[in-house]
Amino acid sequence: MTDETPIASKPRPRSYAHAPRLAADGGKVELRSLFSGTGPVMLEIGPGRGRFALELLAARPDWSVLALEIRKKLAFNLDERMRERGCSPRARCFAEDAREALPRLIGDGTVSAAAIHFPDPWWKKRHAKRMVVGDELVNELARLVAKGGTVLVQTDVIERAEAYFPRFAEHPEFASKGAPYVEESPFVPARSNREAMAITDGLPVYRMVFERR
Ligand SMILES: C[S@@+](CC[C@H](N)C(=O)[O-])C[C@H]1O[C@@H](n2cnc3c(N)ncnc32)[C@H](O)[C@@H]1O
Repeated sequence: MTDETPIASKPRPRSYAHAPRLAADGGKVELRSLFSGTGPVMLEIGPGRGRFALELLAARPDWSVLALEIRKKLAFNLDERMRERGCSPRARCFAEDAREALPRLIGDGTVSAAAIHFPDPWWKKRHAKRMVVGDELVNELARLVAKGGTVLVQTDVIERAEAYFPRFAEHPEFASKGAPYVEESPFVPARSNREAMAITDGLPVYRMVFERR
């Protein structure tokens, strides 16, 4: 490639418009129809680069994973990596805003566990509307997670942990399994990218575990 290369033939940044979506028409989707497996289902919200999902799939070969990632490039890359590792269609990552996608999933009580690792990297007041962990999301998790199922929420920001905890702990369908934080994730050896980095850097990780009543 030289400065004389015509603009039209220069590689353009990929738009990732082809990142997988839950359904082309934006309609409702039967959650179980997304996978071939019949085993337990992990729902991961905001997987980022996807280390947790990939490690969980390796550690628990009977589990399926449904990951919802708002950034198209990250969703595309994780879905590809799941496929390359032979985990598709046991596992999929879709380019979706979890707040909009969860109400479209049919299958109350079909999720065995849900994980939200280090969400909401928004610090400006005007970005508050982007926050993923809100009352509507918690209500959707209460609908989708099976009785006795586990929800893990973890962050390294204490103010965030203090805001998330009561949303779940005071919800009639969830009971806290910590006081309020637990030492270790119930899904080790699977770790998210941010979680692994926090451990390496010696940062505190506030882990909250809730059981669906
Ligand atoms: C700080 S990163 C953490 C990534 C990963 N969970 C980890 O622990 O390494 C937050 C992730 O959540 C994603 N995210 C933010 N809002 C989201 C939403 N509404 N729906 C789905 N993903 C979202 C971001 O794109 C980003 O990948």
